[in-house]
Amino acid sequence: MNKIIAKENFSDKVVKFEIEAPLIARSRKAGHFVMVRVGKKGERVPYTIASSDPVKGTITLVIQRVGKSSEKVCQLEPGDYITDLVGPLGKATHIENFGTVLCAGGGVGVAPMLPIIEAMKNAGNRVITVLAARNKDLIILEDQVRKFSDEVIVMTDDGSYGQKGLITAGVEQVILREPVDLCVTIGPAIMMKFVSELTKKYSVPTVASLNTIMVDGTGMCGACRVTVGGVTKFVCVDGPEFDAHQVDFDEMLMRLKAYN
Ligand code: FES
Repeated sequence: MNKIIAKENFSDKVVKFEIEAPLIARSRKAGHFVMVRVGKKGERVPYTIASSDPVKGTITLVIQRVGKSSEKVCQLEPGDYITDLVGPLGKATHIENFGTVLCAGGGVGVAPMLPIIEAMKNAGNRVITVLAARNKDLIILEDQVRKFSDEVIVMTDDGSYGQKGLITAGVEQVILREPVDLCVTIGPAIMMKFVSELTKKYSVPTVASLNTIMVDGTGMCGACRVTVGGVTKFVCVDGPEFDAHQVDFDEMLMRLKAYN
């Protein structure tokens, strides 16, 4: 059982939790995720660790209300306990000094992007971040992102904040202006598909962090399988990050819809 230490509502739909998990806080790296279950019969849902405080022994998760299970988590308050929390899982992000790294995060995908932005900056990269959401209220963690980015471009679908347009417009702006050595994208599957198609056109190597349905998180159930470069991979153990240009996003979108 892991105790909730603090809770902050970013919007009606997005909540930040600080959770007591000392062992995970000490060992987690950028890109790692945890499986969360609330209630003995609860569904197990993966969430990427947004940040951690090894001294306090806490990890931070940013959770979007999208269905019954995430709603159950979001209803918890400080002092309540999470039934189980397993991790850190998955492979850590490959961090090195690539040169210029363009981070493209959509919606709640900005939360798992934050530790990558921080690690890429600390490795000596020039980091340019494109934050995108449907509207101003859904732009999250902007201050934290600015702390570790050399430049931040904000895009909103309705133009209520930053520039009006989709994330791909922000990404293309940067690619047309200066050489980009690596693009990292995290967000809804459809968004990552379009970012990936765009960067492929400009031959910019791109990594996508995939957010498939997961059940066990340990490579046994096959629920998270995707096709990458024609080969079946399990997101929970082989990922969650893959070469975006090799990912079969259409198949992934079809499987996500099948679960709906
Ligand atoms: Fe079961 Fe990945 S979640 S194999």
